[in-house]
Amino acid sequence: MSHPAPYPPLSLPTRQLRVTAGAATGDVTAVGHVVFEGDDPPDESGLTRARTTELGFTPSVGKSLVLPGATGPVIVLLGGGQRADVTPAVLRDLAACLARAVPGQEDLAIVVPDTKVPSEEAAAAFTEGAALARYVYRIGEELPEARLASLTLVSGEGNTAALEPGIARGLTLVRATKLARDLAGTPGGILTASALGEVARDLGVATGLEVEVFNEEALLELGCGGLLGVNLGSDEPPVMVKLVYRPAGEPTGKLALVGKGIMYDAGGLALKPGDEVHATMKNDMAGAGAILAAMTALAELGCTAQVTGFLMCTDNMPSGSALRLGDVIVMRGGKTVEVINTDAEGRLVMADALVLAREEPVDAIVDVATLTGACLRTLGTEIAGLIGNNDALLTQVKASAERVDEPVWELPLAHRYRKELDSGIADLRNLGGPNAGSITAALFLAEFVGDTPWAHLDIAGTAQSPQAQKWTNKGTTGFGTRLLVDLALHFAQP
Ligand code: BES
Ligand code: ZN
Ligand code: MN
Repeated sequence: MSHPAPYPPLSLPTRQLRVTAGAATGDVTAVGHVVFEGDDPPDESGLTRARTTELGFTPSVGKSLVLPGATGPVIVLLGGGQRADVTPAVLRDLAACLARAVPGQEDLAIVVPDTKVPSEEAAAAFTEGAALARYVYRIGEELPEARLASLTLVSGEGNTAALEPGIARGLTLVRATKLARDLAGTPGGILTASALGEVARDLGVATGLEVEVFNEEALLELGCGGLLGVNLGSDEPPVMVKLVYRPAGEPTGKLALVGKGIMYDAGGLALKPGDEVHATMKNDMAGAGAILAAMTALAELGCTAQVTGFLMCTDNMPSGSALRLGDVIVMRGGKTVEVINTDAEGRLVMADALVLAREEPVDAIVDVATLTGACLRTLGTEIAGLIGNNDALLTQVKASAERVDEPVWELPLAHRYRKELDSGIADLRNLGGPNAGSITAALFLAEFVGDTPWAHLDIAGTAQSPQAQKWTNKGTTGFGTRLLVDLALHFAQP
């Protein structure tokens, strides 16, 4: 099948963001100054504190005041809240706030404030915030408000060396997060399972990952009945991508990542209705996308753990050959599943990979999936659901979530609801009762991990943002990418 041009770029950014530390050069067209509670505005603004108040500015986080002068760069005051409360997350948000306050300006600078946040952390946070707030997925001409050519982190000479490693790390994380956003934003008819396999192969070569793409025949050999079952209704073949990152020395731990890669979720024969929410179902591979994107950053950031990724990719379509409601499928490892609802397909494709991951073996498995509408209802669009079987691993995931400001909230793996998955004719059914849908989905997954430490991230709500906010823009968020990178970098056998 041929695709209409322009084909969205998926691997290489079209323009390179330049981030430097030092003095603002003549190219800079807008400079952000952070103003904390109790501070006077900077001399450059020419304003008194009373005057900024009259103009509607308060120094709370999220507030900004754009001051165009007759000449020179635009001055932007950015409310910073209490200086003592500043965290990397606050700095990331301040840079995002600057990027949005002056949407037409392509060459930005921000004066690095004196806070308790170490310089390296601050530099990474500023880089991420400005770049990610400017991200727009678009097929065709780039939008003017998406352009960002340069960011200067203004600081005294003594501090620039301390900022530089943070800039490098920030740029790596930005590249990875944008890749995850691009992947999730690309329409399902363009980014098919096979196309994702190709993208993964290219990225593997570019970033030093081992990449193995399993086709239908190979999946049959492995007995991946979940992925093959969901694929039955699709004209596009299924693909499982296995990625391996091997650190230079003896690995300090072995982590497996399992991603839901439903390229488009029509619901199968349990067809979804035609409302606008369902047009976002091209992002039902956001879990797989976040894993692929995160893994492209591991070598650059010197990860010492071995990380193995499994991306389970197919459409979920209705057709004469599709899974029927009531069909029974056999998963990798031999468990049988009665398919009560073909729209509960994510857990089916994930199950095979959880078994494969366990067989590696690994010290822990983390899966990422846009799994349940119930999670979106429960935690909204800013917090992901977290469920698992091992407190030490859950603690590591929570710590990473906190550090990168990708919030998660733990829900219980409530075995009391396990009976809702009992089937009269098979080992289990793929649908729980009408309530606690995120928990029963996780209980289904738990059946396939055995006693391997495992954590499940439900990103159904956070994969897509309804508005520009903090480090996200409206649209796909790349949620999970920075969390997974951080987790891999800090991973310790639970
Ligand atoms: N991909 C969806 C989950 C989803 C829903 C993500 C809304 C983002 C926004 C998943 O495959 C699905 O269809 N889940 C069903 C499960 C149900 C049939 C048990 C759901 O949540 O309605
Ligand atoms: Zn789905
Ligand atoms: Mn579904």
